[in-house]
Amino acid sequence: MEKRKLIIDCDPGVDDAVMLAFAAAHREKFEILAVTTVSGNQDIEKVTRNALDLTAFYGLSVPVAQGMGTPLVKEPCYAPETHGESGLGSLRLPPSQQKVTEEPAVLFMYRILKALPEGEKLTIAATGPLTNIAVLLKLFPEIKGKIREILFMGGSLCGGNVTAAAEFNFYVDPEAAGIVLHSGIPLVMCGLDVTEKCTLTRNQILKLCQSGYPAARACGDMMGFSLENTPDKYRGETSVHDVVPLMYLIYPEIFSGKTQILDVECGGGSARGAVLGGFRWWRNEEADANVYVLTEADKEKFQEYLITALYALGAAE
Ligand code: BDR
Ligand code: CA
Repeated sequence: MEKRKLIIDCDPGVDDAVMLAFAAAHREKFEILAVTTVSGNQDIEKVTRNALDLTAFYGLSVPVAQGMGTPLVKEPCYAPETHGESGLGSLRLPPSQQKVTEEPAVLFMYRILKALPEGEKLTIAATGPLTNIAVLLKLFPEIKGKIREILFMGGSLCGGNVTAAAEFNFYVDPEAAGIVLHSGIPLVMCGLDVTEKCTLTRNQILKLCQSGYPAARACGDMMGFSLENTPDKYRGETSVHDVVPLMYLIYPEIFSGKTQILDVECGGGSARGAVLGGFRWWRNEEADANVYVLTEADKEKFQEYLITALYALGAAE
């Protein structure tokens, strides 16, 4: 089977780190051309350090490019309560000797896209604020035709996790999210509507922590940090948001959703970062709806496929 060409744009981050493990466990499915980083869960230096250390730890041989250190308009805000001061909970990884690419992420992405053979396209999976992608599309609009689709973890039609209205990645950079939503590129939104249904339980995490497989243990350790340091502690399970875009690429049959035209609130009020969709189905018929919004997931299958993948990565030993 031909591998899907993929760029992963992320801000590791606990669930980004688990997503990279999931990607590494499926390397026969993906040709990962770059891992690019963006300021989000922690500052750009920390998330880039994490991306380098994680890819080395998982045995994923891929260039890592450092991306935007601030959102387009506002100051950055981080999420240490969920991801810890380092971004990876209390996990300590062996430092990788690999260096980041000389070119910053946006230029590196552009070069990869430009070098694609005539007629070929690639997929972008984005699990942090959409700053890098927005800058790429603004600087090089001619490159849009080379992007097969963008799957992003971000946004929500069912209320937020940072404010009542907004999900973290959209809250951090709604202006960037708006540019992507209006790009005309086929999009798959893996927002809280679906990712809140994609959880691992305390017991499942404990088993990962107790396993003899280093990658599974590391992921268990990180998710355990998020579980115990946030209100997730009381519900006994934690969402593994960022795995959803890649899970969807491999197992689309466990998800369902609807196609919509979306917008995002960029004002400074209490709704900043909220996704505006609504139920005006007739608009979707008048214009080209370009966002497939995932809304449902088979939770048991999600758990089974994720846990199996983390054990399969035992090879990282
Ligand atoms: C998103 O916010 C970040 O904290 C996570 O890594 C995920 O990408 C969930 O709202
Ligand atoms: Ca993330």
